[in-house]
Amino acid sequence: MPDPYPGYRTLHALGGAFRSRLPGKPVVLTHHTQCVTALRDRGFAPDPAMFRPRLPGYWRDGFRPTILRSVLLMHGTAHRAYRPVISQALTPRRVEAMQGTITQVADRLLDDLPAYADQPVDLIAALAMPYAARVAGLLLGLDADMATRAAGLMRPFVTAIEFTTADQRRAIETADDVACTLFSGILDKMASARGHTSGLPHGDDLAIDTASHFGPHRREDAIANLALLFAAGFDSTASAIGLSIATLLNNPAQARLVRDDPQLVPTAVEELLRFEPPVQILHRVATNYSAHPQITPGTVTMIVTAAANRDPQQHPTPDRLDLTRPPVRALTFGAGLHFCPGAGLARLELAVLLPRLLRRFPALRLASAPTFRAPGIGFRGIEHLPVWLSPPCVRSATVGTTQAQPS
Ligand code: HEM
Repeated sequence: MPDPYPGYRTLHALGGAFRSRLPGKPVVLTHHTQCVTALRDRGFAPDPAMFRPRLPGYWRDGFRPTILRSVLLMHGTAHRAYRPVISQALTPRRVEAMQGTITQVADRLLDDLPAYADQPVDLIAALAMPYAARVAGLLLGLDADMATRAAGLMRPFVTAIEFTTADQRRAIETADDVACTLFSGILDKMASARGHTSGLPHGDDLAIDTASHFGPHRREDAIANLALLFAAGFDSTASAIGLSIATLLNNPAQARLVRDDPQLVPTAVEELLRFEPPVQILHRVATNYSAHPQITPGTVTMIVTAAANRDPQQHPTPDRLDLTRPPVRALTFGAGLHFCPGAGLARLELAVLLPRLLRRFPALRLASAPTFRAPGIGFRGIEHLPVWLSPPCVRSATVGTTQAQPS
């Protein structure tokens, strides 16, 4: 959807919580306090066994077994046992140690942009996707080519947690098959490389730790969680990069702040993530929640975190992009037990890439309107972001020149 924000403003004005007419009649929450409470309250769960049967058929069928086995939809003991495997690999110290490599990945992709080509460049295909994919690939031991190819094929995978059309369902099935084949192959390679045929090895990398956690008897669970980790790792980050670049290009004075003031970059990244979050809606089912009369056990709840990020009661002037705004309590990475374990890594990826891109191409501008990810309402992203990298005078003077030079 190109612009969901006017709709969120209307929902805020209507009181923030209501039973919708969407299929399955979910209760929709949009106020910041309601959303935080629901995400933190143990009376809500993402448990698929409760959740899925309550969804309308066309949505339910989008939930492939792979997604259903993943940590995102785990609950209780299973979630408590597996979640530390991921969070230990993404501690602030581990993420900081990746900064040098992430910077190299960014610089290499920026070097490869055809700076003076006389045609627009799609920054999603040429930058956002390969960058986010290569970084997510580093966590799981995928090389750059494999990570980039897998990300392109798996992009529809994440939309399984989304209202689905027939077309989207077919794309999800294909992406799911790609994910299963890819990570099944990786598990086999890991096992044979270490001389294990029946058991899985143990090590300190995330793929190995995941395989080891589930063991050989729960191979399907290991595959599902490797696929989720890779998809969660690249998809939202690629979307955040695309949305942030488009936002900056529509706000040139703010873009100059990111380009010229390195001290401001962390604050700017927080504001960009508040303003244009790639994950807009989270889903839960109520188990024993009593704080709202319309929410009884079994009620499917849509927690519209993107609307909460623009709640006027929480943030003054919520619809204004202000990169100097002191960081606010945005819900871009969720809250509570399922809070995104990759938040620190995603922030670092944006903080490394955005100022570099703007410094390297100070004349960067939109070549035409971006194409938004469609259909769907939960995951916001840009599929194509055509930009000019250099100003018109330089473009016309260098037609036919192939050599890129930094501006
Ligand atoms: C801007 C980028 C990102 C955004 C906006 C984002 C957003 C989110 C949100 C909102 C959740 C919570 C889902 C829920 O409560 O139902 C989540 C969970 C998760 N994210 Fe992220 N994420 C991003 C990047 C990453 C990265 C880089 C990784 C890993 C490398 C990652 C891995 C995960 C995992 C594994 C979960 C499931 C955690 C659990 O269920 O306990 N994410 N993410």
